[in-house]
Amino acid sequence: MYKIKLNEKEYEIDPKSDDHLMQQLVAQGVEIVAACGGAGICQTCAFKPVKGKFTALTETEKMMDLPDGQRLCCQTMPESDGEIELVY
Ligand code: FES
Repeated sequence: MYKIKLNEKEYEIDPKSDDHLMQQLVAQGVEIVAACGGAGICQTCAFKPVKGKFTALTETEKMMDLPDGQRLCCQTMPESDGEIELVY
Protein backbone atom coordinates (compact mmCIF):
# COMPACT_ATOMS: atom_id res chain seq x y z
CA MET A 1 0.00 0.00 0.00
CA TYR A 2 1.13 3.52 -0.77
CA LYS A 3 -0.03 6.62 1.07
CA ILE A 4 -1.24 9.44 -1.15
CA LYS A 5 -1.83 12.82 0.44
CA LEU A 6 -4.62 15.00 -0.92
CA ASN A 7 -6.06 18.11 0.77
CA GLU A 8 -4.16 17.38 4.01
CA LYS A 9 -5.56 13.84 4.27
CA GLU A 10 -3.84 10.56 3.48
CA TYR A 11 -5.37 7.76 1.47
CA GLU A 12 -4.10 4.21 1.07
CA ILE A 13 -3.70 3.09 -2.52
CA ASP A 14 -3.09 -0.54 -3.44
CA PRO A 15 -0.70 -0.54 -6.44
CA LYS A 16 -1.64 -4.14 -7.26
CA SER A 17 -5.36 -3.41 -7.56
CA ASP A 18 -7.11 -3.46 -10.93
CA ASP A 19 -8.70 -0.16 -9.85
CA HIS A 20 -6.78 2.95 -10.80
CA LEU A 21 -5.98 5.82 -8.48
CA MET A 22 -9.34 7.46 -9.22
CA GLN A 23 -11.48 4.47 -8.31
CA GLN A 24 -9.50 3.87 -5.13
CA LEU A 25 -9.77 7.49 -4.00
CA VAL A 26 -13.51 7.57 -4.76
CA ALA A 27 -13.96 4.36 -2.76
CA GLN A 28 -12.40 6.20 0.19
CA GLY A 29 -14.80 9.12 -0.07
CA VAL A 30 -12.95 11.57 -2.31
CA GLU A 31 -15.19 13.45 -4.71
CA ILE A 32 -13.67 13.35 -8.17
CA VAL A 33 -15.47 14.59 -11.23
CA ALA A 34 -15.35 11.75 -13.74
CA ALA A 35 -17.56 12.83 -16.58
CA CYS A 36 -16.46 10.00 -18.88
CA GLY A 37 -16.51 7.37 -16.15
CA GLY A 38 -12.80 6.67 -16.36
CA ALA A 39 -12.41 6.25 -20.10
CA GLY A 40 -9.63 8.84 -20.32
CA ILE A 41 -11.61 11.23 -22.49
CA CYS A 42 -13.05 14.06 -20.37
CA GLN A 43 -9.97 15.20 -18.42
CA THR A 44 -12.18 16.17 -15.45
CA CYS A 45 -10.23 13.77 -13.21
CA ALA A 46 -6.94 15.59 -13.87
CA PHE A 47 -4.47 16.03 -11.02
CA LYS A 48 -1.07 17.56 -10.47
CA PRO A 49 1.55 15.27 -8.96
CA VAL A 50 3.19 17.17 -6.08
CA LYS A 51 5.43 14.44 -4.65
CA GLY A 52 6.16 10.81 -5.37
CA LYS A 53 6.45 8.57 -8.40
CA PHE A 54 3.60 7.58 -10.67
CA THR A 55 3.26 5.14 -13.55
CA ALA A 56 4.43 6.35 -16.95
CA LEU A 57 2.11 8.38 -19.16
CA THR A 58 -0.39 6.15 -20.94
CA GLU A 59 -0.96 6.47 -24.69
CA THR A 60 -4.27 8.17 -23.86
CA GLU A 61 -2.54 10.76 -21.69
CA LYS A 62 0.11 11.38 -24.35
CA MET A 63 -2.63 12.12 -26.88
CA MET A 64 -4.30 14.55 -24.39
CA ASP A 65 -1.05 16.49 -23.94
CA LEU A 66 -2.17 17.85 -20.55
CA PRO A 67 -0.58 21.11 -19.35
CA ASP A 68 1.87 21.56 -16.47
CA GLY A 69 2.65 17.87 -15.94
CA GLN A 70 -0.96 17.08 -15.13
CA ARG A 71 -2.07 13.44 -15.11
CA LEU A 72 -5.41 11.65 -15.22
CA CYS A 73 -6.49 9.84 -12.03
CA CYS A 74 -8.30 7.25 -14.13
CA GLN A 75 -5.12 6.34 -16.04
CA THR A 76 -2.52 6.48 -13.29
CA MET A 77 -1.23 4.51 -10.34
CA PRO A 78 1.31 5.58 -7.72
CA GLU A 79 4.69 3.85 -7.54
CA SER A 80 5.57 5.33 -4.14
CA ASP A 81 4.02 7.37 -1.36
CA GLY A 82 3.15 10.77 -2.72
CA GLU A 83 0.99 13.83 -2.79
CA ILE A 84 -1.41 15.12 -5.43
CA GLU A 85 -3.68 18.11 -6.07
CA LEU A 86 -6.90 17.71 -8.02
CA VAL A 87 -7.31 20.23 -10.84
CA TYR A 88 -11.14 20.41 -10.74
S1 FES B 1 -12.62 10.25 -15.76
FE1 FES B 1 -12.63 11.12 -17.72
S2 FES B 1 -10.54 11.32 -18.20
FE2 FES B 1 -10.52 10.40 -16.24
